[in-house]
Amino acid sequence: MLNFEKLSKVYFSPSGTTEKIVNEVAKNFNMNRENYDLLSFDEEKTFSDELVIFGIPVFDGRIPKLACKRLSKMKGNNTKAIVILNYGNMDYGDALLELTDLLKENDFQIVGVATTVSQNSLFSQLGRNRPDEKDMEKINEFSKNVIEKLKNNEENEIFVSGYKPYSAYRTPPFSVNCDEDLCVECLDCVYTCPEEAIMENTPTMTNIDDCTRCSTCINVCSEGARSFSGDAYSQEMESAVENYLDRQEAQFYF
Ligand SMILES: Cc1cc2nc3c(=O)[nH]c(=O)nc-3n(C[C@H](O)[C@H](O)[C@H](O)COP(=O)(O)O)c2cc1C
Ligand code: SF4
Ligand code: SF4
Repeated sequence: MLNFEKLSKVYFSPSGTTEKIVNEVAKNFNMNRENYDLLSFDEEKTFSDELVIFGIPVFDGRIPKLACKRLSKMKGNNTKAIVILNYGNMDYGDALLELTDLLKENDFQIVGVATTVSQNSLFSQLGRNRPDEKDMEKINEFSKNVIEKLKNNEENEIFVSGYKPYSAYRTPPFSVNCDEDLCVECLDCVYTCPEEAIMENTPTMTNIDDCTRCSTCINVCSEGARSFSGDAYSQEMESAVENYLDRQEAQFYF
């Protein structure tokens, strides 16, 4: 029996794959659940007698700046945590170190770490249709190993790869475009953009200085009106496909 009051899921998931993996891990735990979606949740929060699953994607070798800012407000109290770092079949740079450093500083005791691979939200040819069945099998095996570790009260510090200072933030040089002919002005993108980069009176425009290219609006638009496009996008995509098409596998740390 695991002795936790509940299971809390904390995730930042603009294109939904990180949330999907967090939910797959959570399925293995028979406990009451609570959700903290960092695309919108922006409050101070202290966790205590619960198990927390954190799921964060990689943006240019770092964790997304906004996710980092919101995660910084979440404190543990020697609270046990499972960490999922999800990336798009390229590489994860310093993001794993950054994420585990932040959680350790905020008094979480990390009991298991997974670096998982999903369809790339910028370049869909990379990791297409992942996580797939094989990924989910591994993710469930990982969850069972974490459960065993928790049952046996095993405690150890988990060390991961990465360098400090972390690599500099980089925003992709291309932008998000909106096809005016497809847009029906439903405003879903306006209300879900975590950076408030789309205005109610001009939903087909994007404030390029505020936009982090996170992909939330592209995924939320039921009309398929929003997309990454343009010459800079085509060039980056070509280079990504040339270098990162080979299948990467999830890795696990206990
Ligand atoms: C702005 C941006 C930068 C990204 N940078 C990387 C990267 O450095 N390496 C990588 O493998 N994938 C990268 N990706 C892909 C995401 O990490 C990947 O698609 C992840 O599954 C997205 O999670 P989500 O579906 O929860 O949004 C990037 C995606 C975005 C939007
Ligand atoms: S979600 Fe799509 S259809 Fe709705 S306002 Fe935004 S771009 Fe237009
Ligand atoms: S406008 Fe930019 S920041 Fe806002 S949801 Fe779209 S991609 Fe993300």
